[in-house]
Amino acid sequence: MIYLDNSATTKLDDRVREAMLPYFIEEYGNASSIYDLGRHARIALEEARTTVANAIGAEESEIIFTSGGTEANNHAIKGTAFQARDKGKRFEQLSIITSAAEHHAVLEPCEFLSSFGVATTKLNVNDRCQVDTEELASRLSADTTLVSIMSVNNEIGSINPVGEIARRTKELAPQALVHTDAIQALGKIAIDVKELNIDLLTLSAHKVHGPKGIGALFIRRGIMIEPLLHGGAQERNRRGSTENVALAVGFAKAVTIMREEWNERMAHLSILKHYLLHELKTMPEIVLNTPDEDSVNSIVNFTFQKDLLPKIDGEALLIRFDLEGIAVSNGSACTSGSLQPSHVLMAMGKGDDVARKSVRVSISKDTKADDLDAFLGVLRKLMTELA
Ligand SMILES: Cc1ncc(COP(=O)(O)O)c(C=O)c1O
Repeated sequence: MIYLDNSATTKLDDRVREAMLPYFIEEYGNASSIYDLGRHARIALEEARTTVANAIGAEESEIIFTSGGTEANNHAIKGTAFQARDKGKRFEQLSIITSAAEHHAVLEPCEFLSSFGVATTKLNVNDRCQVDTEELASRLSADTTLVSIMSVNNEIGSINPVGEIARRTKELAPQALVHTDAIQALGKIAIDVKELNIDLLTLSAHKVHGPKGIGALFIRRGIMIEPLLHGGAQERNRRGSTENVALAVGFAKAVTIMREEWNERMAHLSILKHYLLHELKTMPEIVLNTPDEDSVNSIVNFTFQKDLLPKIDGEALLIRFDLEGIAVSNGSACTSGSLQPSHVLMAMGKGDDVARKSVRVSISKDTKADDLDAFLGVLRKLMTELA
């Protein structure tokens, strides 16, 4: 199988698996226990926390491990709203600004809070899938509680100006917290929470060859948000539940390797992406959805010329690639199971047709040029059949 869906998840690195194994077998202690076995677990957990913190310029006390990116996003968004309510505000007095192109793990917690009366504004994105900071500025007010804008879009690969978003927010609505879902940014662009001046930031391990089921939420020192999980004093009272030491160790190992191999990975991704773009641009049937500028090197999203679209069935297209042994997606399939039009492409102003009939190719350190050639071969064959 040729795997070109690395934005959905990545293959676990063998070295990560090796690092985790002892914590599934002999080092099974509870990190809160005071005896030796527990202390081993605690040491491993805290080392993992330091590693993840260092990767984004944070301090270890600013990182809490979660069950994944979805939980971290839910914690950031609901935790901020509940904290404001704890401080005496009513939900009706709170206001969240996000974008229409966010992952469902941001959009749905916002919708959940809307059902309690929290005002939610979804900023438009432009045709390059980026938020306009001027539009953000015009929406900020004394009521704004939270601004949550993703660093990198998971379907298109566009990079948002998160530093500028934080700067404008601090300037115009200093009471508001700024959160970014940086899941697709980790391992693709440098992240420095101090430089970005961000308050809350979400990461997930399985997008960087780490294990599934673990993520992290950065909470800037001094900021209090309400926990999502009550029932234990773990994670400095910010997330109840016995810590998953093995997965934390795996996350840290994945991050360590990512940093050690940074230069070669960046070069590898860049060469492959530009090769793919070059080849796609030679095909008159193809229209790129991913912009050339301000996008990561891991994602290429494209659709087809207008006159070809009626002949294409988006779902059948993906199944056809699957039958040819190639795993690609349309970017939104991972959450739906059945093919819904992509809300991201719709937010970019593309029609329903394009939102149903686009393909996302996402690559990683494991992708080879031959994989892309095999994909391009099938794509060319399909185009000939449709002509
Ligand atoms: C941008 C973005 N946010 C959130 C998530 C959800 O993360 P997790 O699978 O770790 O819950 C994903 C993964 O699909 C993502 O790409």
